[in-house]
Amino acid sequence: MEKIKIAITKGRLLENSISLFERAGYDCSELREPGRRLILDIPGSPFSGVLAKAPDVITYVEHGVCALGIVGKDTILEHSNDFYEVLDLGFGKCSFALAAPKGSDFYAGSRTKRIASKYPRIAHDYFLSKGMDVSVIKIEGSVELAPLLGLSDAIVDIVETGSTLRANGLEVVETVCSLSARLIVNTAAMKLYRQEILAFIDKCRGAMQ
Ligand code: PRP
Repeated sequence: MEKIKIAITKGRLLENSISLFERAGYDCSELREPGRRLILDIPGSPFSGVLAKAPDVITYVEHGVCALGIVGKDTILEHSNDFYEVLDLGFGKCSFALAAPKGSDFYAGSRTKRIASKYPRIAHDYFLSKGMDVSVIKIEGSVELAPLLGLSDAIVDIVETGSTLRANGLEVVETVCSLSARLIVNTAAMKLYRQEILAFIDKCRGAMQ
C-alpha cells in the first residue's frame, strides 16, 4: 500500500513534531537524518513524512496529496481552510499581537493608520472586527522594520518571547489571538484512511505533554 503522507512544517515546528511522533511510538530515524531528501519513510507505520514550508503544508493537504499536516494556527488563519483541524498539538505556542513604537499612542488622532504585516488577512480581519478602517501593507520578513523606517504606524505579527520587539523599541499594544501547532486532515482522506488516521490522532493525543 502507498504510504499515507504527513506534511510537516520545516523550521521551528519540526523538532517538536518529530519528538511528538517518537513519543507516540513512531520510528523517526529517517526524519532525523533527512539530508536533502524531502519525503522520509516512517518505518513500520502506514505513514511517511513530507518536509514543507508552512503555507505549502496547507496547499498539499487541501489538494489531498498529503492526507495530514502539521502547521501553525497563524498559517491556518491567514489561508483558506478547506480541511479538518483535528488537534491542538500544544507546542509552537505564541500569539499574534498589534505592536507599535514604545510610547507612541497608537489610537491617537483620526488619520487612517498604516499596519505592516506578513499576515495581511489576519491584520485586516482584526481591524474589521473593531470597526476600524486601516491601510494594511504586506511585508515578507522582519516586519519590525516597517515602523522603524516610517512605513507604518504599527505591525501585526507573531510574538513568542517578545525579544524581537524589545530589541527594536516596539511594544505590544494588544494581543490579537493565541497560536500553536495544529494537526490538519484532508476531508476525503479522512474517509478513505479513517482507521489509520484515527489511530494516528489517538497516538498523538496520548503522547502530548
Ligand atoms: C517571528 C516573528 C518575529 C519573531 C518573534 O519571526 O515574525 O519577528 O519571530 O519572536 P520573539 O518574540 O521570540 O522575538 P521568525 O523568527 O519566525 O522569522 P521570519 O521573519 O523569517 O518569519
